[in-house]
Amino acid sequence: MKVLVIGQGGREHALCWKLKNSPSVERVYCAPGNAGTALEATNVDIGSTDVERLVQFAKSERIDLTVVGPEASLVAGVVDAFQAANLRIFGPTKKAAELEGSKIFSKELMRKANVPTAEFQSFSRHQDAVTFLEDREETPLVVKADGLASGKGVFVCSNRQEALDAVKQIMLEQAFGESGKKIVIEECLHGHEASILAIVDGNTILTLEACQDHKRAYDGDTGPNTGGMGAYCPTPLITDELMDEIVEKVLVPTAHFMNVEERPFKGCLYAGIMVTNQGPKVLEFNVRFGDPETQPVLMRLKSDLGLLLKAAADGKLADFGPAEWDPRPAVCVVMAADGYPAAPKKGAPIRGLDEAAELPDAKVFHAGTIRRGDDIVADGGRVLGVTALGSDFAEAKLNAYQAVKCIRWQGGWCRKDISDRARSYLD
Ligand code: AMP
Ligand code: GLY
Repeated sequence: MKVLVIGQGGREHALCWKLKNSPSVERVYCAPGNAGTALEATNVDIGSTDVERLVQFAKSERIDLTVVGPEASLVAGVVDAFQAANLRIFGPTKKAAELEGSKIFSKELMRKANVPTAEFQSFSRHQDAVTFLEDREETPLVVKADGLASGKGVFVCSNRQEALDAVKQIMLEQAFGESGKKIVIEECLHGHEASILAIVDGNTILTLEACQDHKRAYDGDTGPNTGGMGAYCPTPLITDELMDEIVEKVLVPTAHFMNVEERPFKGCLYAGIMVTNQGPKVLEFNVRFGDPETQPVLMRLKSDLGLLLKAAADGKLADFGPAEWDPRPAVCVVMAADGYPAAPKKGAPIRGLDEAAELPDAKVFHAGTIRRGDDIVADGGRVLGVTALGSDFAEAKLNAYQAVKCIRWQGGWCRKDISDRARSYLD
């Protein structure tokens, strides 16, 4: 097969790498890609939301399968346009992508489907949200912009004033533009978070092995929220019993109700789960592969990813059988640029990538990188996802940090404790 991957982050580099190594795949293209995807695939200079040109390219190159990375492409309707042109594509339609594109849609669907999640109310008028907050007892609450906000539209507030400030920022100051015209205010959940990714073909659900990411910027899970400073797979937090419960109470009813709503879900369904004292509850749905979760997940996947995603796109996942996994855990350490997450500095040349590439059981996935002449330079906040396998978490962590040690650029930094939490569940 000829495969096109849409996107330009670490997730897309991992997808290109795994697809390139899939026996069913002859050739991989990536639009627009980064300096890392260029090592696995042919980069094509088309933006990830330039739907018309993506369709034209897939037609003229006779692409057999297109795989969509970012939510923005899905919400822009790339899947609808490909389907209208009779092109095979893995990902949800625009209507199904509302599950991530609108928090209100997703919360209401969960309410109808009886999926466990935080209690919530939605608001489209600032004054109504203020009255709601002033009238109720003061408790920690979470305020969320309804639309996409690159992961920044969620405010976990410990008191009423913080919640009022969040509502003001989103609705009056329009910090997220149109995405903040409506908001959700919900109960604050407590527990441990996990990322459950599943391949769904509209009817059949194939869960990938569970992961956890580290969202906070600094060691000990402190500091500001980020897109994710590292991730690992599997996680001992999610036992087989818990995974069965998540499939039964979350994934099956969600896929079913998406059919009832005439928005059949095909693609990667990502449930952000809080494991609470009352069992697993959904924090949010994403309609795409997680970043950086995809990097350690795909490091461990042994099945042919091309065949898996083709089967899902064709609605034939039931014929695919269970996925095969490397039993060893994988740990991904994100290396970020100076100033991330507030104001990352771009442009520093990155050294030591070749040295790191020689280490066994390690793979450096590029996120924000670009080639300038002979140099690969930092071109984003999260720059690299250094990922490694090991016989246990301690060894996987050691292998990942050994690869990190080879790499240096001015201002490049990472957390030092990625995956320690996984080991804490085993103690
Ligand atoms: P979301 O984009 O909805 O996943 O929110 C981003 C992060 O905010 C999550 O990963 C959680 O850490 C936190 N969060 C979201 N909703 C809640 C909630 N109801 N209770 C506690 N934390 C939450
Ligand atoms: N790692 C979080 C996300 O992909 O949204």
